[in-house]
Amino acid sequence: MIIHIFDSQQELNQTGAGIITALIQTKPNAVLGLATGGTPVGIYEELVKNYNLGRVSFSHVKSFNLDEYVGLPEDHPESYRSYMNHHLFDHVDIQKDQTHVPNGNAADVDAECEEYDARMADVGQVDLQILGIGHNGHIGFNEPDRELTAGTHQVELKAETRQANARYFPSMDDVPTHAITMGVGSIMKAKSIILIVRGADKAEIVKRALYGPITTDCPASLLQTHPNLIVLVDKEAGRALVE
Ligand code: PGA
Repeated sequence: MIIHIFDSQQELNQTGAGIITALIQTKPNAVLGLATGGTPVGIYEELVKNYNLGRVSFSHVKSFNLDEYVGLPEDHPESYRSYMNHHLFDHVDIQKDQTHVPNGNAADVDAECEEYDARMADVGQVDLQILGIGHNGHIGFNEPDRELTAGTHQVELKAETRQANARYFPSMDDVPTHAITMGVGSIMKAKSIILIVRGADKAEIVKRALYGPITTDCPASLLQTHPNLIVLVDKEAGRALVE
């Protein structure tokens, strides 16, 4: 595990985007595992800048997103498909049919999960998985539980996760109750993982994830066993790591 703690958001964003850019420069047909939420926004902004500067082309890149809400129309502004279009896909030369986000409106959600795993298996291995972490230690939408699931599956979101995401919706009642998420097995299969963590409110959970017991009560703690984990944190989130 390599941990970098940054004084500024800009440095963190440029470093994260730099790692992704360097990967695509050396492997133009790289497979990216992508995340949504507040955490990666600045990194996607820097990636778009790198694209506009001619440093990187996404024309042969494939991507798989971690998760999607169940029941939100695909073009709803808060769907993760809309998020990805808005923050990255609409601004670079990635082929949209090479971008994969679980279909949260599938008539048969279980069949969609199986198909998503099959599509991932078809391309082999994700080269680089981008991850955030929830305040409860979730990765993707793999919430703390007695058992975790390896493959893509449907989850009921915990109250604290819906609360954390309520800032994007008019009211709590509008926050979806269920989501489709890659499982921890799919996440851990990636060749490399970048975990990005920002803000004082994540300081304790990132410490627990990286140095606490490896337990399904904190799904991110499994990352301790990944052979190629890079952790990018701002100084607020990194506070407890240097104590
Ligand atoms: P956030 O979410 O980036 O919006 O904080 C991270 C997560 O819940 O995984």
